Amino acid sequence: MGKKKQPTNRSRTPLSKEFLEYISKDWVEGQQSQAERHEVADFAAKRRNTLAAQFKGSILVIEAGAMKTRSNDTEYRYRPDTAFSHLTGWGSAAVPESILVIDASKKTPKSYLYLRPTAGKNSDEFFANPAIGEFWVGKRPTLEEVSTTLGIETRDLKNYDKDSKKWGKKVTLKNAKLLEALSNMRFVKDQYEINQMRLAVSATIAGFGDVARALPIASRKARGERVVETAFFARARQEGYDLGYETIAASGANACTLHWTRNDGDVISGDLILVDAGVEMDSLYTADITRTIPVNGKFTAAQKKVYDIVLEAADAAFAVAKPGVKFKAVHDAAMAVIAQRTAELGLLPLSAEESLKPENQHHRRFMVHGTSHHLGMDVHDCAQARREMYQEGILQEGMVFTIEPGLYFHKDDLRVPEELRGIGIRIEDDVLVIKDGVENLSAALPRTTAAIEEWFQNELLGQGG
Ligand code: GLY
Ligand code: MN
Ligand code: MN
Repeated sequence: MGKKKQPTNRSRTPLSKEFLEYISKDWVEGQQSQAERHEVADFAAKRRNTLAAQFKGSILVIEAGAMKTRSNDTEYRYRPDTAFSHLTGWGSAAVPESILVIDASKKTPKSYLYLRPTAGKNSDEFFANPAIGEFWVGKRPTLEEVSTTLGIETRDLKNYDKDSKKWGKKVTLKNAKLLEALSNMRFVKDQYEINQMRLAVSATIAGFGDVARALPIASRKARGERVVETAFFARARQEGYDLGYETIAASGANACTLHWTRNDGDVISGDLILVDAGVEMDSLYTADITRTIPVNGKFTAAQKKVYDIVLEAADAAFAVAKPGVKFKAVHDAAMAVIAQRTAELGLLPLSAEESLKPENQHHRRFMVHGTSHHLGMDVHDCAQARREMYQEGILQEGMVFTIEPGLYFHKDDLRVPEELRGIGIRIEDDVLVIKDGVENLSAALPRTTAAIEEWFQNELLGQGG
């Protein structure tokens, strides 16, 4: 927990007794707390009880984590640990280095949240500590305020070491069983989470409108992909807390590089641009949406041909997704289309049926990634769950995942007809499992070529969000 000692060669903070006395006086005292219980509090309490029931007799210690150093004394934007946020309901506002303790050793589990509370103006912390002082980083909440907001008993972090000596065996985030249980718990989203996912998707869709409007400028500038990336980022910071992951803004053949986050390419009229982006809300829930858009607003015949195959694969995946089917059946449905159509294009050395056999899979040359992953606070949510629970798991109402088939024809792929080389397409939507199928949460963002062309024109005319 100890902070590295920083060099003091720049510091000229006055520390005389007289100065300390002067600066610590004449501030408005006793301001009324504005804290109110947050709607997430009841949901988070339920999550803690569910977890405690699986770890009876243990003390669970879930750390929010510290700020991460970027270089020297500059730090990345703080992002608390996902499990910590899930179990406390404390998102982007969490005080770094806070620790949640769930005492499951008693019959009724009890939780404590340790945090570093606000320091009084009679300490030198508030003006002389750039890492945590309120003059530097802004107001920190009191223990009472956090307790009211989250509905958890709070304690001063300075007592943690002393208190923790009294506890028996502690189970921490290094414990594989705990990590697995935390992932399993997050498969099915509660109502608060579903609402947050809707907000994240809605902000992300607005961000795609910003992207459309930025394309004319992007195509006139060097490194136009950065224009696209930053247009989206502005929306992420304005409506949310951050991006859920690094934006992919991949123009032309860059779209074939699956994790193209360098985004330093030009954006050229006549090409497509693949944009994969998600707004992470203050609650830390994120969307994960991809659209592939013609830079000049019109698909060419070749681009449309590839696009329609990907759309057909996506629609096939949508059609099978419903409660009771295996998660991996969604991928299989999309792959049946990809295999069939790439075989028809003459790209495979065997039939679609042969290619679909587990030992072959030649069609995966053109789509190596999976079709779906769970989505929530982490873009690849529930990552520590076992295969039996994830790929082999059964879809249930309340699950949220992506459907994101693609086709990637590299510009140097000699198996691909020349007219299709350099075309990379992905369509990624976020879906919620409902009673008899899935609801496409991102349906408001057009998916067909005709609808994308129309949407693009409307955005340019300023008729979008
Ligand atoms: N953007 C990462 C993914 O689609 O999985
Ligand atoms: Mn995804
Ligand atoms: Mn994505």
